[in-house]
Amino acid sequence: MKPTLAPFPATRLRRLRSSKGLRNMVCENTITPHDFIWPIFVMDGTNTTEPVNSMPGVMRRTVDLLADAAREARDLGIPAICIFPYTDSSLKTEDCAEAWNPDNLSNRAVRAIKDAVPEMIVMTDIALDPYNINGHDGYVRDGVIVNDETVEALVKMALAQANAGADILGPSDMMDNRIGAMRTALEAEGQQNVAILSYTAKYASAFYGPFRDAVGASGVFKGDKKTYQMDPANSDEAMRLVERDLTEGADMVMVKPGMPYLDICRRVKTEFGVPTFAYQVSGEYAMVQAAAQHGWIDRDAVMMESLMAFKRAGCDGILTYFAPAAARLLNS
Ligand code: PBG
Repeated sequence: MKPTLAPFPATRLRRLRSSKGLRNMVCENTITPHDFIWPIFVMDGTNTTEPVNSMPGVMRRTVDLLADAAREARDLGIPAICIFPYTDSSLKTEDCAEAWNPDNLSNRAVRAIKDAVPEMIVMTDIALDPYNINGHDGYVRDGVIVNDETVEALVKMALAQANAGADILGPSDMMDNRIGAMRTALEAEGQQNVAILSYTAKYASAFYGPFRDAVGASGVFKGDKKTYQMDPANSDEAMRLVERDLTEGADMVMVKPGMPYLDICRRVKTEFGVPTFAYQVSGEYAMVQAAAQHGWIDRDAVMMESLMAFKRAGCDGILTYFAPAAARLLNS
């Protein structure tokens, strides 16, 4: 039962805000570098970085530079890195076979990070879009994104990533039945400790624009992803997806994008009480950076406030391009 507040002036809610010490004592949420998963873009080549123009401060880097990034993350207290490959257009095909090549860019990146910093948690992305000639997350047959055939390909991709050493698989494709199919295959392959962080409530969002630049998918992609990603108008549907993914064997669930969908984060945490993550996506990052570059907002303050908002909404962790900058600030 909620206690009734004594009437003013017995109750003065400003009392507990009156000094830093008191504010710290009653602070309801905290954030530490342990809450972050750092998404990193990788590309072919050696000893090279390339800025992502639509994401100021973010770069693509070659596999040989990942050891440094992994040590940087470790030294900052960031427990996990999520890999996204910039796949050369010559490797994009209709059958997406590069997706399960054991030596593809993503799998080489996993090995490079695990070799350099074995305790670093490495997460991967499962969807066909980096390898698909038309930029979709699934196979396209007569203009339709087909489900079951795509899931078979995703399972091959999942196994290749697990065998490369990935600790967490992140299916971001939004096909039906992919979690169950991957879980069964992982068990059969003896990969019972590979975790699945499902992109469960992934919305068909315009906030992904800069990401598609970063992975070189904007050129080829036409149309939209509305037949598989969620309608931004829906909230109950997200709860059905969470329930479905959990019953299929997901260990953790994700809401994506993040800031415009904090209501979904809160519902997931309250209704299911499972490990819940949010992805503060490329467009959210770009908005903050762009406004800060104009001098319109204080970058560090807005960054930390936005990350705290995820914790307050019930998230256990956040995938964020701000991970190293925020961790540096928290550690200083
Ligand atoms: C691909 C994928 C996307 C993102 C993560 N994995 C883009 C998309 O679905 O089109 C977006 C990440 C971001 O915007 O930061 N399946």
